[in-house]
Amino acid sequence: MKKFLVVISVLIFSNGISAAEDWGKTGHRVVGEIAEKYLSKKTEKQISKLLDGHSLAFVANYADDIKSDRQYDAFSPWHYVNFPFGEKYETYPKSEKGDIIQAIEKCITVLKNENSSREDKVFYLKMLIHFVGDLHQPLHVGLADDKGGNNFQVRWFNDGSNLHSVWDYKMLDFYEMSYTEVATNTDVLSKEQVEAIKKGSVIDWMYESRALCENIYDHTEVGGKLSYNYMYEYMDTLRSQLQKGGIRLAKLLNEIFS
Ligand code: ADE
Ligand code: ZN
Ligand code: ZN
Repeated sequence: MKKFLVVISVLIFSNGISAAEDWGKTGHRVVGEIAEKYLSKKTEKQISKLLDGHSLAFVANYADDIKSDRQYDAFSPWHYVNFPFGEKYETYPKSEKGDIIQAIEKCITVLKNENSSREDKVFYLKMLIHFVGDLHQPLHVGLADDKGGNNFQVRWFNDGSNLHSVWDYKMLDFYEMSYTEVATNTDVLSKEQVEAIKKGSVIDWMYESRALCENIYDHTEVGGKLSYNYMYEYMDTLRSQLQKGGIRLAKLLNEIFS
């Protein structure tokens, strides 16, 4: 009987122990595609040179693709930041291995430095495009206790899953839209709304994700079944986070390259 239960639990939760994929391929490409619309001509030209004519969407998943190569292990903690609810990033002890805030700062520093090699500029540009996306995934500003929700088991419709994966890609995949379809169907924003989104610092944007993360924990139970209701509750938030990510990525790139 015990063996039977073990087999059953493994089957139920097997989807819930897979490695994190961040926004998933579509989410990161959406952020890149939206950013392209807000780049200045000068920025666009310089980026195109560095990326050999490829789009931001084309390279947006590079930072995830290199995770399987041990040579790049040191970059794994750069995709997120964890600290307890009620604490502040600025006063909580920082991870010595780096975090998403330190990562974005490093990318900007390398890209702004005239003495950086072309190779370094290309690498850190691709990393920046990815990390600004991750910064807008609420569970990437999470809790160490459950590895940003990777160990927070839930059911996604009839499958075993975890809260992190639901936010990385399960909700977006449920939409069954291509990245260009999601990027062209963003909310129509006034100039003032775009300016409001661009305002603030990387740390301010991180706290927006943190507030969403806290809201998500308030509204989600361990082992709970998430399905259509969850989509109704959070899909607009998810789409808005992708849109904000794109607009803010363009802002950073324009500041670096203009
Ligand atoms: N691993 C540990 N914490 C994580 C987080 N917040 N996001 C992604 N992966 C993680
Ligand atoms: Zn993730
Ligand atoms: Zn990532």
